[in-house]
Amino acid sequence: MTADKLPVSLPEYASRAAALLDANARAYFEGGAADELTLAANPRAWQEIALLPRVLRPLAGGATTCHLLGRRLAHPILLAPVAHQCMAHPDGEIATACAASAQGAGLVLSTQSSLSLEQVASVVASDAERGPLWFQLYLQHDANFNRDLVRRAEAAGYEALVVTVDAPCSGARDRERRAGFELPPGISMPNLAGLPPRPRASGGSPLFDGLLPGAPGWAEIAALCERTRLPVLLKGILHPDDAREALRCGARGVIVSNHGGRTLDTSLATAQALPAVADAVGDAMAVLVDGGIRRGTDVLKALALGAHAVLIGRPQIHGLVVAGAMGVAHVIRLLHDELEIAMALCGCSRIEDIDRRLLVAAG
Ligand code: FNR
Ligand code: LAC
Repeated sequence: MTADKLPVSLPEYASRAAALLDANARAYFEGGAADELTLAANPRAWQEIALLPRVLRPLAGGATTCHLLGRRLAHPILLAPVAHQCMAHPDGEIATACAASAQGAGLVLSTQSSLSLEQVASVVASDAERGPLWFQLYLQHDANFNRDLVRRAEAAGYEALVVTVDAPCSGARDRERRAGFELPPGISMPNLAGLPPRPRASGGSPLFDGLLPGAPGWAEIAALCERTRLPVLLKGILHPDDAREALRCGARGVIVSNHGGRTLDTSLATAQALPAVADAVGDAMAVLVDGGIRRGTDVLKALALGAHAVLIGRPQIHGLVVAGAMGVAHVIRLLHDELEIAMALCGCSRIEDIDRRLLVAAG
């Protein structure tokens, strides 16, 4: 591929990737739950916030640098945990991690990554310029297995645990079922190797009596925060009361997320949920947001609404599908450059200058 053929924006990466993915992988990576209303609402909610920019302010020497959990970042963009990346490209999570590292972006590795957490960390852990390296934790039904998994993440050099709390079960994934989605041969979940089988339910609901008795509650979150030396963030918070509860349990941050519209359809778009969560806990813990962030202006709006950083999910897969590690790096670079442009055109030379006075809700 020649440089002049590269997509110029994240939406363009998305359409290029859609044409390259096979039907099975496309249903998994692109799909949402049920009627996909939340999937569609996420990007729309950012688009519907209008900017009210300021002019003629001094901009020289501006920068996107910021702070998160006591660490200085080159910019406030992280890669969200996305499972099974070797299904998108043979280099899988190694490519994503290298790209994040090269662009100073944070990386959150999924529990369900197709390469092991040790393999991924070993490639980037020693890079001094990289962004934060976090591990996304799906707490399993076996306490000993969870303890070992946390120890492995600590030992491998991960700097925080992101516990995903909005998916005690999968959503009603119509698109996946219609496509007959299944993991292709050769794609596995090495972080979960050796997980003992779930105890079998004797009758009752397969969901409520089979799967969910093994699901974590607030007590398990509090116990995890006690047990690990790593900061814990909860991913999948929409309600400000849950954010307050996370703080009480010892979590150091929350990620306002609806899982990219893949779990509960018709749940609130994240741009709409963010302000109340930021108002509730934004001074006391890190607040991040994901879902439908595709433009530098979306990042700026998220920061204006009180987020300290943002994550992108599907766009990293689009980069990976189109051009491997280089594609992911380019996606991050495009979003970062658009953020700089948006800041300059809003009269903000620093991240701290971005606030709600720049925003007007449409309608
Ligand atoms: C996800 N997401 C996700 N979240 C998580 O905590 N663990 C995981 O393993 C995954 N896996 C996953 C796979 C795929 C294919 C997608 C699209 C998403 C959710 C992800 O971290 C994030 O919340 C959303 O993707 C954000 O929305 P956008 O940026 O994709 O619109
Ligand atoms: C998903 C799971 C892996 O969204 O979180 O597919």
